[in-house]
Amino acid sequence: MTAPGVLPAQVGPGRKFFMNHPVTADSHTLAAYRARGGYQALAKVLGSGMSPADVTKEVSASGLLGHGGAAFPAGRKWGVVKLNDGEPHYVCMNADEGEPGTFKDRWLLEQVPHMCLEGLILGSYALMGRHAFIYIRGEFDLAWRRMRDAIEEAYAAGLLGERILGSDFSLDVVLYRGAGSYVCGEASAMLASLEGKKGWPRNRPPRLTVKGLYQKPTVVNNVETLANIPVIVGEGAEAFRKVGTAKSPGTQMISISGHIARPGVYEVEYGYSWETFLYEDCGGMQGGRALKCVIPGGVSTKVLDPEQLKGRTLDHASALAAGSQLGSGGMIAIAEGTCMVRLARVIQRFYHHESCGQCTPCREGMGWMERILDRIVRGEGRPEDIDRLYHISAANDGTTICSLGDSAGYACSAILDHYRHEFEHYITHGRSMMDGALTVEDPFAESLARWRAAHPGALAPSLAAAAAAGHA
Ligand SMILES: Cc1cc2nc3c(=O)[nH]c(=O)nc-3n(C[C@H](O)[C@H](O)[C@H](O)COP(=O)(O)O)c2cc1C
Ligand code: SF4
Repeated sequence: MTAPGVLPAQVGPGRKFFMNHPVTADSHTLAAYRARGGYQALAKVLGSGMSPADVTKEVSASGLLGHGGAAFPAGRKWGVVKLNDGEPHYVCMNADEGEPGTFKDRWLLEQVPHMCLEGLILGSYALMGRHAFIYIRGEFDLAWRRMRDAIEEAYAAGLLGERILGSDFSLDVVLYRGAGSYVCGEASAMLASLEGKKGWPRNRPPRLTVKGLYQKPTVVNNVETLANIPVIVGEGAEAFRKVGTAKSPGTQMISISGHIARPGVYEVEYGYSWETFLYEDCGGMQGGRALKCVIPGGVSTKVLDPEQLKGRTLDHASALAAGSQLGSGGMIAIAEGTCMVRLARVIQRFYHHESCGQCTPCREGMGWMERILDRIVRGEGRPEDIDRLYHISAANDGTTICSLGDSAGYACSAILDHYRHEFEHYITHGRSMMDGALTVEDPFAESLARWRAAHPGALAPSLAAAAAAGHA
């Protein structure tokens, strides 16, 4: 999901790998990237006789964890691909970014496309690939244009194509536009879609690193994972490990949206205080409202309330200890006064819509949960509905081909765990406990009222748009 009009921001102390230069009209170009040391990591590898296995060794030593959601160690994934087996090997950059709340890859693709591309080239060198792929979300128009231009610039500069920088290494890159399906972000579905087939996930084994694209060994990595590679290869694993925490080295790109005062894309060093990030860097909640909860890493991760965030740091171990995950870095801040029943319904509608339908618990369960939540929101909930939602969630756990089904279940049961009383109230009284519960003035209420007075009968725009249109 994209967040239109969100401006990037640099905040907080600590190292920045991606946001360490001003964004200007041409800072995404090859000339600008080279001026700040871009493609030196590639030149170092190709000029120093560093072998493909050496590059993988460096990435393993860096401790880099995947940024696509599961935080799988990148070096370990690369290390299982057998080099010199006579087979073509492929590296695919996963730029599908469909997780609701997540728009950090879009920033990277738009602002540092060459850094992402250099990471893909280095990854392909490490895996002895001759062709690499970028699967980009169809809706990402600027990101696609910037990546297309970056690829053209790279070919013209001898950074792609035959005998890159005069070496024996050759690589061609295919940029492929998806059609906006969430499930196509799942690695095996993405490869099926790349092959021109229906974007359906498939069971493993065989792993994609054994039989992936066109049945050949394939590594799928997230955009941000690959964008880290030039830093690791250029500065060395040891220097990389000095940033972040021992178990989560490096930085995390976080896209934050919801009721937060300063939404946008931020880069934080792992280990940074979660509360400082929310309340100081992001300015707390809009209109001075209190924080009700945070969805930490895309809607597939479990909600955390302010108590659970106390003293927490932004890194994988800390998020796990709190009972959730950093996921894809798509954080959604939710203010007091928000109805969690309606929120659960919106999330469930999304999962139902995006289920590919192959697995019965996911196909039937998502629709069933949506219908139950719809019924509760209509004021027709039944006392047994809460237990039924739990049961359907649990039925997905470990019984589906991909983790869409499990995640949907976790997301719903976590909301139920925290806010069961809101569901009970809705079922008993036929209306939300949150209706009329706002104790703090809505900063946009007055402007919206004026807009409504000026446009009788028309659908109201977003509150912010009403304000921007001069009705504030
Ligand atoms: C339904 C679903 C959607 C996914 N969408 C994305 C996505 O948009 N981008 C992404 O990088 N990973 C996504 N993933 C995770 C990928 O399957 C895969 O684990 C990831 O691209 C691996 O990259 P990494 O090891 O660099 O994290 C998704 C997974 C599921 C189950
Ligand atoms: S879990 Fe859902 S989305 Fe994933 S393969 Fe099964 S039916 Fe499709």
